[in-house]
Amino acid sequence: MTELARPTAKASVVEAGPTNQARPVPDIVTELPGPRAREHIAIDERYVTPSLPRAYKIVPVRGDGVVIEDIDGNRFLDFAAGIAVNSTGHAHPDVVAAITEQAASLLHCASSDYYLPVYAEVARELDRIAPIDTPTRTFLCNSGAEAVEAAMKLARHHTGRQNLVAFLGAFHGRTYGAMTLTGSKAKYHAHYSPLLPGVYHVPYGNAGLDELEQRVFRRLMPASEFAAVFVEPIQGEGGYVVPEPDFLPRLRDLCDRHGILLVDDEIQSGMGRTGRWWAIQHWDVQPDIVLAAKGIASGLPLGAMVARSELMTWPAGAHGSTFGGNPVSCAAALATIRLIEGVFMANAAERGAQLLDGMRPLVRRHERIVRDVRGLGLMIGVEFDSAATADAVQEACFQRGLLVLTAGENVVRMSPALSLTREEATIGLDLFGQAVAAVDREVQAAD
Ligand SMILES: Cc1ncc(COP(=O)(O)O)c(C=O)c1O
Repeated sequence: MTELARPTAKASVVEAGPTNQARPVPDIVTELPGPRAREHIAIDERYVTPSLPRAYKIVPVRGDGVVIEDIDGNRFLDFAAGIAVNSTGHAHPDVVAAITEQAASLLHCASSDYYLPVYAEVARELDRIAPIDTPTRTFLCNSGAEAVEAAMKLARHHTGRQNLVAFLGAFHGRTYGAMTLTGSKAKYHAHYSPLLPGVYHVPYGNAGLDELEQRVFRRLMPASEFAAVFVEPIQGEGGYVVPEPDFLPRLRDLCDRHGILLVDDEIQSGMGRTGRWWAIQHWDVQPDIVLAAKGIASGLPLGAMVARSELMTWPAGAHGSTFGGNPVSCAAALATIRLIEGVFMANAAERGAQLLDGMRPLVRRHERIVRDVRGLGLMIGVEFDSAATADAVQEACFQRGLLVLTAGENVVRMSPALSLTREEATIGLDLFGQAVAAVDREVQAAD
């Protein structure tokens, strides 16, 4: 594949676009956090809810491609992409142009009440690219958690069954239903009981399927009482966990045998991130419902629940949303799909292979602290010996101008924009290697 060129842009977009491309990246010009960042954080800590987790003290003000500039003018190489959201990079000119054009003609017109053309266009595109061979129909909403909620409701509505299965380590969101399915950290459930009844968790992987058949279905609740199984084909927040090769085919078979719907949560792994439209396609498995959000609209809020048409038996009024399928988000999604299909999906596979190959030697080089390097496409996880080490590596990356995010217990994840160039990947590899080496030295010195 040819190297990605910097996107060409309309003049007005370049003016609005922001970072100074003449400067290198990363380019850290103050201590971190810098003086203006510290000032801003003080204001934030006075007015903003303390419940937001906040990974490190960055105050971003501009983005361009895989570069983020903070309030003090520091330039970071962004391998987090707003938790796998900025799929086409920050402020891709095609996306900005689509948003601007749509905003100038129609900002909002409740899709629940009117036939919004751009909503149906997104649904038609999702039908074309969905990992489902039979016809589909789509419900659009504003976030991943809302897509999960929609799937929970449709699964119950269609099957007339109540119970649901999810996996330990899963993250499906923070609204009540989605939070109940989430099984990655107990703190997400703390003080919120009672949660939604009828949700059963089993371990992620083949052991969980054995447990479902041998323990849950036999001793706790018959399979015929289950509406759906929710699964991430690669666990995201749980630590970028790639399952055993036969797990998803076995899960499909289990669902088929018991008339249970398979809901494929691709909110983090979908939209081309793994080098295919959907991660589940690496295992040649077709779900009944697929969920997308995050990268679908390059940063504008949009979620999608795409279901086999024959499941959409719910009548008018059974589900809806005031803002869901907002025209501006839909326009961004159409531009995003074009870009991903045009070049970024193939690029994700190539850059992902480059990053994985570059990181695998870390396991041997730093055997004291690095346990595993894994992933598919631009969904890469590096597992460390402890949560403290993963946190220290995240901070060491930040201090060097590389943004990464911890996940699971002891994993650092990388999910850069699919527009990442070979050169940017090389810089990221180098910085990550430096950060891991520095933390390894610190650990050794402390021993
Ligand atoms: C796999 C998965 N499902 C659901 C969600 C929830 O998405 P949102 O934060 O947009 O509600 C997330 C968010 O991280 C996710 O990774």
